[in-house]
Amino acid sequence: MNKQELINTSKKLVGDNRGLLAMDESNPTCNKRFAALGIPQTIDYRRSYREMIITTPGLGECITGVILYDETLRQSKKDGTPFIKAITDLGIIPGVKVDAGAKDMAGHRGEKITEGLDGLRDRLREYFQMGARFAKWRAVIAIGDGIPSRACIDANSHALARYAALCQEEGFVPIVEPEVLMDGDHSLGKCFEVTEEVLVTVFSQLYRQDVIFEGLILKPNMVLPGKTCPEQESVNTIADATVECLLRAVPAAVPGIAFLSGGQSGELASARLNAMNVRFKSRLPWALSFSFARAIQQPAMEIWHGEEANVAEAQQKLYYWASCNVAARKGELAF
Ligand code: 13P
Repeated sequence: MNKQELINTSKKLVGDNRGLLAMDESNPTCNKRFAALGIPQTIDYRRSYREMIITTPGLGECITGVILYDETLRQSKKDGTPFIKAITDLGIIPGVKVDAGAKDMAGHRGEKITEGLDGLRDRLREYFQMGARFAKWRAVIAIGDGIPSRACIDANSHALARYAALCQEEGFVPIVEPEVLMDGDHSLGKCFEVTEEVLVTVFSQLYRQDVIFEGLILKPNMVLPGKTCPEQESVNTIADATVECLLRAVPAAVPGIAFLSGGQSGELASARLNAMNVRFKSRLPWALSFSFARAIQQPAMEIWHGEEANVAEAQQKLYYWASCNVAARKGELAF
């Protein structure tokens, strides 16, 4: 492991006002999003969709790194250029999702544990040869009646730290993603309490397993009320709660925090990120950035709709949402 290289890569990923684009939907997730729009769910359509994204004019002005799924990492543009080469030529760092998905946790109804540690070292070595330099692992924590359990938080945090240690050993910056889900009618306060407990546990495991904080990126949820909670707080209240929670749990040595969007609309995800940067940017130890999938891609996918004729318009939409988040990083977003 070259510690300085890890630190350099993580600084590049969060170092200026650009951010990350998550385009690593697994085949089942990508197919589900295609099906909802009536787009055929085939390998060719998934390839064309990803080509539309990475050939978006100006993408490199907004994005430092893209997260890919195994299938996409091995695909090429219509003209034969491998996606990884096309991405790297734009000055964008290719990353890869390496978890094998969140599965039902034995003995814990309603809770999930993320799998994928077996064989991970060998997979990382292959991805490194192919040119990937950072990785992602997502754990999901649900809020509900009697959940999350300590067991679920502990098991997922332990797995995240094992993944992160393997990544760093193999020269990858790990994106550490513990996602507290928005599903449910829980309050903002409940989300704060659970998110804090999860993050404290994750960092304790990362510390215990000798992960270098300076060479990782945290990808958390924002602190939000549940989707069906009757009380939906203002953008500023959510920005304040999120930053307060992160300040309590995330070591200052971490270079950057890149939020997931988690089902928020593009408008809200950007507005909340913007509010955090307006109110706190100058006094935070870490950069506050984005690693959105849906909040950047969804409107573009709807326009694209599987049709070659719609590519240019879809790309304009993708660029628009990516650039909104660059503005949000600067605290200069105006809708
Ligand atoms: P969303 O921004 O759509 O939540 O996706 C982020 C992500 O990478 C989930 O793992």
